[in-house]
Amino acid sequence: MTDPLILGLESSCDDTAAAVLRGRHILSSVVMGQAELHAAFGGIVPEIAARAHAEKLDLAVEQAIAEAGVHLSDLDAIAVTAGPGLIGGVLSGVMMAKGLAAGLNKPLIGVNHLAGHALTPRLTDGLAFPYLMLLVSGGHCQFLIVRGAQDFTRLGGTIDDAPGEAFDKTARLLGLPQPGGPSVQDAALDGDEARFRFPRPLLDRSGCDLSFSGLKTALLRMRDQIVTDQGGLYARDRADLCAGFQAAVRDVLAEKTRRALALYLADSPAAPAIAIAGGVAANTAIRGALQAISDEAGVVFTAPPLKLCTDNAAMIAYAGAELFAAGERSDMTLAARPRWPL
Ligand code: KG4
Ligand code: ZN
Repeated sequence: MTDPLILGLESSCDDTAAAVLRGRHILSSVVMGQAELHAAFGGIVPEIAARAHAEKLDLAVEQAIAEAGVHLSDLDAIAVTAGPGLIGGVLSGVMMAKGLAAGLNKPLIGVNHLAGHALTPRLTDGLAFPYLMLLVSGGHCQFLIVRGAQDFTRLGGTIDDAPGEAFDKTARLLGLPQPGGPSVQDAALDGDEARFRFPRPLLDRSGCDLSFSGLKTALLRMRDQIVTDQGGLYARDRADLCAGFQAAVRDVLAEKTRRALALYLADSPAAPAIAIAGGVAANTAIRGALQAISDEAGVVFTAPPLKLCTDNAAMIAYAGAELFAAGERSDMTLAARPRWPL
């Protein structure tokens, strides 16, 4: 029997996305970003995001179906992000999916966006349960033991900002473009990470919780000490600040990963593995640190390709496929949820 053909929709943040999957095979994955719409505001404006999703979702679906070379009537199910996220965007996606499901008389499957990220290593690498997942994005940061498509144990997470948010704020404070992650990473390449001593928040506290908001305060203080008379920064100073900041995030994530790994290994998994997902998984310094920890512990390390680390609909279609196989179905009462812990 062939695997079911699933359409996935994603609109919980600032990417409007649609994808068609058959099993683990990605037939199409369309991602329409909104960066230029929000650029002038220095952050995502929920109203603008919601409107753009409402305008683009039908085009994204049309393009995904065409690129996959299938017809809407061929679909076996429609999977959609039903939260957590910016409610206007999530609502647009859920309404679109309900309309398609009702019009085509196909099953509807509501997917948790975080489950989409957390199951991505199964889509890309066929990773077996259970694995340790570090989910790090612009809105989230948590350690999970992933035991099944609906079986997640949260070991700890951020008590304030997510690392991506901290990268974005850092870029803003240093006059670098958004999204901040890639621009801070680039600037850090030429920097001396030891020049500025950033704190390593919460390392003195046991457990796997993390904190990143203090790094921003530290950055602000250091920046204000070296700002030029014209109110700018020399490229060398900016590079050193970026390198110091990134090293602090890397070190904190690395140490907490060691602790999460110990908790996960206590279960004696048959084929131990660590996986990373979310936009910040694109960071090479952070990836490198996790790779080193995994090598040290003799554990497999998996990092999905970058375009599947950031928000996309292939991960939603894949999570939907796992739920579909488990017999899960949503109905027309499916609600859009701004908050939805795993
Ligand atoms: O997963 P994602 O696309 O959206 C959310 O669900 O949040 O993640 C976007 C976040 C942004 O904050 C962006 O600055 C960050 O991921 N990011 C990075 C890098 N590339 C993207 N952070 C650090 N280093 C990078 N190379
Ligand atoms: Zn995400």
